[in-house]
Amino acid sequence: MQAALKVDELSKTYTSGSRSLTVLDDINISIEPGESVAIVGPSGSGKTTLLGLCAGLDKPSTGSVHLYDSMLNDLSEDERAEIRNKHVGFIFQNFQLIPTLTALENVMIPLELQGMKQAESIATDLLERVGLKDRLDHYPSQLSGGEQQRVSLARAFSNSPKILFADEPTGNLDEDTSQSVEDLIFALNQEKGTTLIIVTHDMELANKTNRIIQLKGGKVVADRKPE
Ligand SMILES: Nc1ncnc2c1ncn2[C@@H]1O[C@H](COP(=O)(O)OP(=O)(O)O)[C@@H](O)[C@H]1O
Ligand SMILES: [Mg+2]
Repeated sequence: MQAALKVDELSKTYTSGSRSLTVLDDINISIEPGESVAIVGPSGSGKTTLLGLCAGLDKPSTGSVHLYDSMLNDLSEDERAEIRNKHVGFIFQNFQLIPTLTALENVMIPLELQGMKQAESIATDLLERVGLKDRLDHYPSQLSGGEQQRVSLARAFSNSPKILFADEPTGNLDEDTSQSVEDLIFALNQEKGTTLIIVTHDMELANKTNRIIQLKGGKVVADRKPE
């Protein structure tokens, strides 16, 4: 079977002035379609950097990233953006909604970028699915943290992504709200067969996935089944 994500001998070194800092060092990972994977590790261990490289937001120093049948290294910025629009979903710790757009408009954007005619009805259905039917016309500032994260969840799933990257999606939410956002992520993952890669500090969340990859100092130190 073709891997959903394949990372080979990946390294990332940041250079500023005469200093260089190796943040990821020879990472090798292969993830199957439909798998749900947690990436855990201490702060500064390279989790966010790894996610950015896997999603084609940034380029590695050495090594390669394959996302389904695309080898990201060979693609231009525009080509990588097109793959992201079509096949990739994102959820960030700080939601990253557009403040001047309503909940509905935020969810419609990826669909409109693809020229989808039914953008409004698809976005409305997704917002209903995450329990925000009566918040369609609210702006992000008029929503609670948990509601904003549910909007970003609806947005992330709007293009029916093959793969979803979530970077500490519940890091800024209280326990009850985290629980409902997590349940939704896994429900949508199951429903749509989306491959799921979640960065988290929360071992309880990590244990709900199929596989836990642990980073430390830019290296994979464990790759195991959850408890
Ligand atoms: N753009 C950058 N330039 C220089 N150093 C960076 C940059 N982004 C991240 N780093 C460094 O890389 C290391 C790993 O960061 P990050 O991937 O955000 O870790 P994590 O998400 O695991 O907390 C940190 O030491 C951070 O300071
Ligand atoms: Mg991070």
